Parts: sequence; C-alpha cells; structure tokens
Amino acid sequence: NHPIIFDTDPGVDDAQAIAIALAHPDIELLGLTTTYGNVDIATATHNALLLSELAGQRIPVAQGAAGPLVKTKYPAPAFIHGENGLGNIELPPVKGQAEATSAAQFIIDQVNARPGEISLVAVGPLGNLAAALQLDPGIVDKVKQVVIMGGSIKEGGNVTPVAEANIFNDPHAAFRVLTAGWPLTMVGLDATHRCVLRPADMDIIAVGQGRLGDILAGSYAFYSDFYRGALGIDGCCPHDSCALAWLLKPELFTTARGHLMVVTEGDAEGQTIFAPEGRPFIDARWSRTPLVDVCTGADGKAVVEWIVETL
Ligand code: BDR
Ligand code: CA
Repeated sequence: NHPIIFDTDPGVDDAQAIAIALAHPDIELLGLTTTYGNVDIATATHNALLLSELAGQRIPVAQGAAGPLVKTKYPAPAFIHGENGLGNIELPPVKGQAEATSAAQFIIDQVNARPGEISLVAVGPLGNLAAALQLDPGIVDKVKQVVIMGGSIKEGGNVTPVAEANIFNDPHAAFRVLTAGWPLTMVGLDATHRCVLRPADMDIIAVGQGRLGDILAGSYAFYSDFYRGALGIDGCCPHDSCALAWLLKPELFTTARGHLMVVTEGDAEGQTIFAPEGRPFIDARWSRTPLVDVCTGADGKAVVEWIVETL
C-alpha cells in the first residue's frame, strides 16, 4: 500500500493520473494539492475537486501556488489543455470546497503525522513542495520518497529545445526540490515520450466510468489534437500517469543515479542537467548536489497497458 499526496495542475494528463490514483487499490490517496501550471490556480482546484467527486470520493483538496517563486508567470497554454484544463468540454458544478489549509501546510501536516510512510508525487510546477521545504525543512527526512514528473536529460524539452514544462514553469522551485536531499526520482520526457495512449486505449478506458469517463475521453480528444500537430502522433503521452506507474511498477523503467542541476536563468532556463554518479568533473559543483534517481527510458507499451488495466 502506498500512501501518497498527489500534487497536480489538472490538466488533461493530470486528470488521467488522478483517476488512476483514485482507482488503484494499492494507492491510498491522502489528498490532492493544487498548483497553477496548465491552468490558473482556481481552475486547478476546481478540477481536482470535480474529478474526485465524479469518482465518488471526497478526497481532501488543498490549494497551493498561484504562480512561480521568482520568474514572471508564463501564460497557461490553453491550446494544449483547453481554457478549463479539460479540453473545453462542459463540466458539471463542484459540490465540495478546498481545505482551509494551504497545499504546503497540508503536505507538512500529513508527512509529520506519518513519518517515513508518505510518498509525494508531484506532476506540475514544484512551488508547493518548495514552499513546504521552506516552512519545515524537517520533512526531508520524514517523507518516504518524492516522485516528480518533469525534466529531461537527453530527450530535449517540450517548451524550449531544452526545458520541459513543469520545470520551465518554476525553475527556482524545481532547483530547491531536486537538490533538497530527500529520496527522489525524476520521471521526465526520456521516459514519458516512450509512452503513447492511443484512441483505442481511451475507448476501453472511458467505458463504464459514467461522467468521469466522458471527461477523460473528451479531454483526451482535445489533447490528442495538440499531439497530432506538434509531434505527429496519433494519441497523447500520458506524462503524469507515468509518475504513478514508476511508483507501482518501477520494473517498467530504466533508471540512472546521479546529480541533477536546474538552470534557473537565461535562455536555457528550466533545463535539467544530469551528471552520472561517480563521474568526476573539474568543476566540483556537480558532485556537491545530492544523489537522485532519473528515469532514462520506459517500456512504453507495458506502461500504457498498466494504465488501461488500472482504469
Ligand atoms: C507536463 O506538463 C504539463 O503540461 C503536463 O500536465 C505534464 O505534467 C509534461 O511536460
Ligand atoms: Ca501536470
């Protein structure tokens, strides 16, 4: 059993991953913490509440970062996820509301209540985890592990030639989170671009899930249009679900251990740079950051099969 807090900016592929986190019998979903990213913060929180309600569960939702720590906010890419984050399909109203506590405080309270047990799975810009670290640095030793969807080491970027969206949206937060010294795995584009969720997969997923299935399928169709235009593929990369796949099925991925740095300023902002463990560099800066694990590839077919089976 994996108790997790899922930090998210829903977002079409976030919605797929939230549905997995709600459905999988081996995941204990303690809460959804929201961040701006694919959409503004109010929309992110609305979508998190909606998805959990449609799955018939009232999971705590705690609202977090409305923008990046330092850089100027980059406009949310409405042509990728839609204005409402879910492919512009019509959405029913939400009944519940967010917790009174902030996302960062929610993370701190939960982690301190169950030291050594909780995995933080973060699939948006990393402002909430950075804020939690700043408020209570002690959580570094109390989380079980941190899994992030973001970054890339050989694959190149999807916002700029070198930067992946979640890191690009808040590089300063990413720097703090990736170099904090907690057990961390980065599931980036090197793995997620190996996975393609095809229309036939979505046909299977949507069946029997009522309104939630309609939302997953409708938003998928919108998101796939972007992939067809941008990458020429028929389907979409289920980026955020890959972070959960790593948590439950690490054998489907290849990983490398080493040091990560994040470029925070300039034309390469948001780039993640990887230095393999044990390889000496003349500039010692590289070996001073803590060791982390990075996914270097994935068995894309098996990951997608796992997603379809779970949903
Ligand atoms: C990441 O960026 C967001 O648009 C997606 O939801 C995913 O988390 C992929 O680069
Ligand atoms: Ca996301």
